[in-house]
Amino acid sequence: MFYHDSVMLNEVLDLLCVKRDGIYFDGTLGGGGHSLEIMKRGGRVIATDVDGDAIEYADALFRSEGFLGRYELVRDNFKRFTAIADKRGIEEIDGAVLDLGVSSHQFDEAERGFSYRYDAELDMRMDRRSELTARDVVNEYSPLRLMKILYEYGEESYAKKIVENIVRERAIEPIETTGRLAKIISESVPYRKGGHPAKKTFQALRIEVNDELGGLETAVKDIARRLVRGGRLCVLTFHSLEDKAVKNAMREMAADCICDKSLPVCVCGHKAEIRVIKTEKKATKEETDRNPRSKSASLRVAEKL
Ligand SMILES: C[S@@+](CC[C@H](N)C(=O)[O-])C[C@H]1O[C@@H](n2cnc3c(N)ncnc32)[C@H](O)[C@@H]1O
Repeated sequence: MFYHDSVMLNEVLDLLCVKRDGIYFDGTLGGGGHSLEIMKRGGRVIATDVDGDAIEYADALFRSEGFLGRYELVRDNFKRFTAIADKRGIEEIDGAVLDLGVSSHQFDEAERGFSYRYDAELDMRMDRRSELTARDVVNEYSPLRLMKILYEYGEESYAKKIVENIVRERAIEPIETTGRLAKIISESVPYRKGGHPAKKTFQALRIEVNDELGGLETAVKDIARRLVRGGRLCVLTFHSLEDKAVKNAMREMAADCICDKSLPVCVCGHKAEIRVIKTEKKATKEETDRNPRSKSASLRVAEKL
């Protein structure tokens, strides 16, 4: 059973202002929560997910809800949005949602290897057709490259110690499981508040394995450019680097000039393409009490001019 409690569902849907028969792009289908609600409010959906489980589950769900013919599900990366839309002759969309990161289903399914809470093979691929796994990153990356990933993607201040211990251990025997990796990390990090000692390292590895940040800014711009006038793009992010990429993309598109500040006059001729209508909206206390995953969520919304 695929499980995912959609984050800020009503806020996102209210901000999308779904139009009857409008076309909405859901780049991160997951358990289909946002897409289903779009259809319940009268919209049509084109959705992508790199995870075959998500596509299969959502397809069955949408059929059982009687929406056959009102959606198309594509197993692909939303960063290929322009090609996906072009192939279908979709020149404009009425709105779009990106709910970034992993689903609860992926996280809670032990064999996917995303969680330090279960002992499983080190995998962490959202797309099981891709080659790079967390096992490859942990065992094959140079110490310097590993350290950079832990610092940058995990903001892990004990990166140096963790990597030293990983390198020592992998020389004895390859690190194959989440359990062994979590143990190595726990032994490298002093007790600290705010979660499991392996949390930051696991996040960093997941970002690397799935190239979560690569091309994100461009994708946000590509999707926003295809919106109809007044159409909205809602993006939910779950960590600061992801949020920064979305913020930068929206800020640049919303600016009338993107010249270097040192220039006395504008030479770029850039004109604002969107306006930002929500910066960093957070989930309500009621939702964070019910769904802990929503605690780190930030919602940013842009509207096409
Ligand atoms: C947080 S879940 C989405 C949950 C969904 N909004 C719901 O309400 O059920 C994120 C989903 O996006 C998928 N995903 C993440 N990055 C992706 C990408 N670049 N392209 C396509 N799918 C992606 C993941 O596989 C996961 O299933």
